[in-house]
Amino acid sequence: MSWIGVCDVAQVQEDFPFSGSVEGKEIGVYLVDGEYFALEDVCPHAYALLSQGFVEDGKVECPLHEAVFDVRTGTCLHGPGGRNLNRYPVRVFENQIQITFIPETVE
Ligand code: FES
Repeated sequence: MSWIGVCDVAQVQEDFPFSGSVEGKEIGVYLVDGEYFALEDVCPHAYALLSQGFVEDGKVECPLHEAVFDVRTGTCLHGPGGRNLNRYPVRVFENQIQITFIPETVE
């Protein structure tokens, strides 16, 4: 499994995710209760970056049409999201948040 650096841990705060492009994919990195999560960042409904939406209590609301996703699992909880988000394994290595592109999806 190869790990790719996304950002430093200091760039992610509770309710303030990091958004970045990693190997051509938009990725959002979130911190919830001390644990990091990485999700695909483009809303599957239309084009909006979820990390620019409202984040609270482990959920992110799309800034465009208000679909809501569970940050821990990527599950679409309600709204027009259409499907669950791809979630990527995360590790912290020397203060760097790294992901790997083996998606963990929730049915
Ligand atoms: S673009 Fe996200 S809900 Fe429409």
